[in-house]
Amino acid sequence: MQHLCPERQYCTAFAQNSLPAPTLLRGVALLPAHVISRKSHAQGCRGHRSAVRAQQGQSGELEALSELAEAQGFRRKNPLSDKFEVLRFHHIEWWCADATNAQTRFSCGLGMHMVAKSDLSTGNTTFASFVLQSHDMVFAFTAPQSQKQPGKGSAIPWYSRSKAFQFNQHHGLGVRAVGILVTDAAAAYKIAVQNGAVSAAEPVTLTDKATGQEQTVAEVLLYGDVVLRLVSGSFQGPFLASYTPVSSHPVSYGIRRVDHAVGNVPVMHDTVEYIKRFSGFHEFAEFTAEDVGTLDSGLNSMVLASNNEMVIMPINEPTFGTPRKSQIQTYLEQNEGPGLQHLALKTDNIFTTMKALRAASGAAGGFDFMPAASDDYYRQLPEKIGNVLTEEQYAMVKELGLLVDKDDQGVLLQIFTQPLGDRPTVFLEIIQRVGCMRPLLDPRGEEVKAKDSNSPVLVQAGGCGGFGKGNFSELFKKIEDYERTLSV
Ligand SMILES: [Fe+2]
Repeated sequence: MQHLCPERQYCTAFAQNSLPAPTLLRGVALLPAHVISRKSHAQGCRGHRSAVRAQQGQSGELEALSELAEAQGFRRKNPLSDKFEVLRFHHIEWWCADATNAQTRFSCGLGMHMVAKSDLSTGNTTFASFVLQSHDMVFAFTAPQSQKQPGKGSAIPWYSRSKAFQFNQHHGLGVRAVGILVTDAAAAYKIAVQNGAVSAAEPVTLTDKATGQEQTVAEVLLYGDVVLRLVSGSFQGPFLASYTPVSSHPVSYGIRRVDHAVGNVPVMHDTVEYIKRFSGFHEFAEFTAEDVGTLDSGLNSMVLASNNEMVIMPINEPTFGTPRKSQIQTYLEQNEGPGLQHLALKTDNIFTTMKALRAASGAAGGFDFMPAASDDYYRQLPEKIGNVLTEEQYAMVKELGLLVDKDDQGVLLQIFTQPLGDRPTVFLEIIQRVGCMRPLLDPRGEEVKAKDSNSPVLVQAGGCGGFGKGNFSELFKKIEDYERTLSV
């Protein structure tokens, strides 16, 4: 089903945003009540993953978002101001105290399999690092080895054990590098530094031993101890060309890619201006009906995006004067400074994905989620969102504790984990975006056609449905409730 969105002149088709289900109601597929049984839960991650894999092939359709509010006077703007060409997120590197344990938890909790490594078994005495993948989402977990042993065989030439130990000491588990794919990392680095970026690592060319494919990597500081890692080259592997591939059985709970990477800083304006100056990223327009009112959410937020809006980086700062301390201020204290607050992970079927993630949480070793919103929230949701979801899907939204929001173009379904580690700092968001499908263009700007039907291949516009601004108020309450249980 298609719906033309005149302002951006691209189609909004929902056929590719499918919910799996054998049952159809009003043309919308419904998920069976219990995809992941108690039995598969009890079998742990292995049985649980099999159940999820069995669901991946089923699909259905969401109906058009015919009741999206028209935003009077609201105009989206994309000045296409990037200073170097940016393609997409490439990987995320987490720094931790013990990579073996960290990767095991993320593998189980998010449904990711190991694809590469660099550790003592590959001749690296400097650090241990394991790379996990789920579709286009690549996470590396890296921990320093003892500084009392000689360091050799490092797969990251600029890696510093003392920096890694300091990072762990100050921040605990956290994201060190947000990797983005660019057309020319050396040129991008040069332009970024010329425009005020602080260098973290000069360009280095890595070579894949097996294929001879090359990869250029460079880093600039993003905020706090987090770097923006620029990656380019012919290397087709998942992380860095210097790592050793690992073959493992592919698993996935349906998470496709990183959608956005959010930073917490004390002064938003300064960081936003710094990033805009060196990258050219623009402010992503966002509209929700709730913008009309004033919400006390404890934070200010601005969303930065690349030209193609495939790399989206919101920046938060705390606000003050609320009865409870801002969650952003809590983060800044507990993280001992700025850092990456959350990664939004995109699935094409949040119902299947969340059933898998919930089954993997708690005693199964995965991640726990923030409590569901209030009954009032779920009662009012159909009126706010419209008939994009069926009654049964609204029931599933409530059962899984999801939040739903919309902007002028699409709908966002979202849910947040509790903090991932010991400190109330970094967490994850699982999202599905519905709507905003547009023709895929080739490098010449012409529409890419499907081989079998010759119809245009559609891709979803970045940021479709917004970032949940309409849920900030509800979410803030839940985080307040959660932090009330902690001594922070
Ligand atoms: Fe988010």
